[in-house]
Amino acid sequence: MKVISFFTAKGGTGKTTFNVLLASYIKYHLGKRVMVLDFDYPEHNLSYMRRRDLRYLEREGIHYSEEDFFPVESIDKMSAEELEDISKSFRDLSDVDYLILDFPGSFAADDPVTQLMADDYRK
Ligand SMILES: Nc1ncnc2c1ncn2[C@@H]1O[C@H](COP(=O)(O)OP(=O)(O)OP(=O)(O)O)[C@@H](O)[C@H]1O
Ligand SMILES: [Mg+2]
Repeated sequence: MKVISFFTAKGGTGKTTFNVLLASYIKYHLGKRVMVLDFDYPEHNLSYMRRRDLRYLEREGIHYSEEDFFPVESIDKMSAEELEDISKSFRDLSDVDYLILDFPGSFAADDPVTQLMADDYRK
């Protein structure tokens, strides 16, 4: 499994848009299994868009199955320890070929994602 993520120090630069396009390319064009983790707490734009799309299909009576979409998991704010556990569990995922992490535009110094990245950097 490959993990892909894009990070910029500035918000609103198109990360989520690009991640959706990339996930779609991997699933629909390459036919590979892909999952997106939405770390953009508390906005969760990607999870919101997915719920909106499903509501639309249901309202219009359009039949769909789960396999029609790549899974999007919404990750809420959590402690560094919880995040470490989550990242370990996703590291061992065998049922996806690509894992895409959708990060927020910025992190506070005490944000667990920042701490984990700093830990990785120090290693
Ligand atoms: N290549 C592009 N050209 C023009 N507009 C774009 C492009 N990519 C994204 N946008 C627009 O820019 C805005 C921000 O995009 P997006 O939400 O993907 O950025 P982001 O980096 O995920 O933001 P955040 O840091 O808030 O998560 C959206 O309105 C989107 O439609
Ligand atoms: Mg975004």
